[in-house]
Amino acid sequence: MPSSSASAPGKIILFGEHAVVYGQPAIAIPVDQVRATATTTDNTLGIVRIIAPDINLQCNLDQLDTNNPLFIVIDGVKNLNRTNILPACDIHITSTIPIASGMGSGAAVSVAVIRSLSSFLGLSLSDDAISALAFEAEKRYHGSPSGIDNTVISYNKPVYFVRGEQPVIFLPKISLQLVIASTGIESPTISVVQDVRARWQEKPDEYNALFEKIGEICKTAYSILREEGCDITTLGLLMTQNHRLLQQIDVSCPELDSMVSAALNAGALGAKLSGAGRGGNLIALVPPEGVSNIVEALRKTGAKNIICSQFSSHSVAG
Ligand code: PMV
Repeated sequence: MPSSSASAPGKIILFGEHAVVYGQPAIAIPVDQVRATATTTDNTLGIVRIIAPDINLQCNLDQLDTNNPLFIVIDGVKNLNRTNILPACDIHITSTIPIASGMGSGAAVSVAVIRSLSSFLGLSLSDDAISALAFEAEKRYHGSPSGIDNTVISYNKPVYFVRGEQPVIFLPKISLQLVIASTGIESPTISVVQDVRARWQEKPDEYNALFEKIGEICKTAYSILREEGCDITTLGLLMTQNHRLLQQIDVSCPELDSMVSAALNAGALGAKLSGAGRGGNLIALVPPEGVSNIVEALRKTGAKNIICSQFSSHSVAG
């Protein structure tokens, strides 16, 4: 069989993380600069072998725990195959997406593996089917995920997402110049999401009110993003307001807060944490002429890795 390669992008959440777990909307966009890639090739060993050097993994499929996200997606593709069996093959996985930093590395690996293996088998899967299978793996990474990561990464388009509803794919009317800066702190989504749940159970009224405020910000941002002559200044302010609410939910950390202040002082239109928080990444919306100042300010504040990403509707057309 001919070998088959596929890749999937990273992602950032522009608005609405955490609140999205509780039914509020969120907006996420793909980030093409970082990607997970999977290549499936024939082998003559009579086994399905997984080779993922980035995480020091090389094993046979039957050596993986059935709860392992990789097992779930590979077994899921097998079950979608008419014969219900997999031919002997090597699935080689690499990724440039930082792990546990809110950029969707787990979901991107799942989507790349599903695309590569299904196309190796000659199966044509819809984006919906790919997203649904990646969601099964997400549950093992995150416990009770909203589904936003697998959705934005499977569609590779911006998405307005409400848990349990059909996602709305949309193209912003303007280019967004973003700076994505890493704190260098790994923060597993599952523990932050569980902690937020414990606090929500303790103080449901307070947390529901915060989630609703985040939902309102997200709805306003969504209408701004779809308007001709989109009001980018207001969009930036909404991002910063979203960050303030995430601070109140207690998912920020001193490093993220310092980086938000540094970005704003250096001229960013808005800045916030993105993803689960308590580490991971900050995103800043920046005027095109201000990128270098903001990058420098973030570096001085301790940012470990910085990605400058211009997101335009052209970059995802088709
Ligand atoms: O995977 P992360 O770190 O981008 O977090 C996902 C966003 C959360 O809202 C915190 C969790 C979820 O399932 O939506």
